[in-house]
Amino acid sequence: MKVLAVSGSLRADSYNTKLLREAAELAPAGVELELYDGLASLPPYDAGHDTDTAPAAVDDLRSRIAAAEALLIATPEYNGSLPGQLKNAIDWASRPFPGNSLRNKPVAIAGVSPGLYGAMWAQTDLRRVLGVAGARVVGEELPVPRAAEQFDDEGRLVDPDLRARLAEHVELLAAEARPAAAAA
Ligand code: FNR
Repeated sequence: MKVLAVSGSLRADSYNTKLLREAAELAPAGVELELYDGLASLPPYDAGHDTDTAPAAVDDLRSRIAAAEALLIATPEYNGSLPGQLKNAIDWASRPFPGNSLRNKPVAIAGVSPGLYGAMWAQTDLRRVLGVAGARVVGEELPVPRAAEQFDDEGRLVDPDLRARLAEHVELLAAEARPAAAAA
């Protein structure tokens, strides 16, 4: 089963991207996490350009979502919500509506922040936006606060409890996606 892992951060040393790399390591047998690397290439959403010949980066996003059985999104919080470029990606992926690549797609969400709240407002908004776009958000939020203390120099999570919670998060997502994957 393929899970597309999307980081809401473009920053080279992003904590959220590190979390997704850890999730890839912790994924159960038979579950492959592929890190989406096209976020920076997406142009600003323009309904006038959203035609049968959508921009190549948009085609790539939509086909990668369609080819994945599930999505795992880890997002920072920018000014109390999800980053604009992540919202932009979801806007592109949400069209054409309702037959878009996100429709009924199981999605698990997580968020890392240097502060105390683990990007909770961003995750709350991300859940709502994905639901409106037609995706099926599964499980609870996974807030990871105090980012600077959570990762070692190699980008590995240092807290065994947090590693276990992340592994459970991916396992729940895979369990939600398995029936559709088996039927395909
Ligand atoms: C932030 N940051 C931030 N943090 C937070 O907890 N709540 C917030 O509202 C904001 N707002 C915000 C706005 C902007 C424009 C920036 C650049 C940053 C801090 C943010 O959580 C921090 O930079 C994280 O490290 C970003 O995640 P990555 O890039 O490490 O994944």
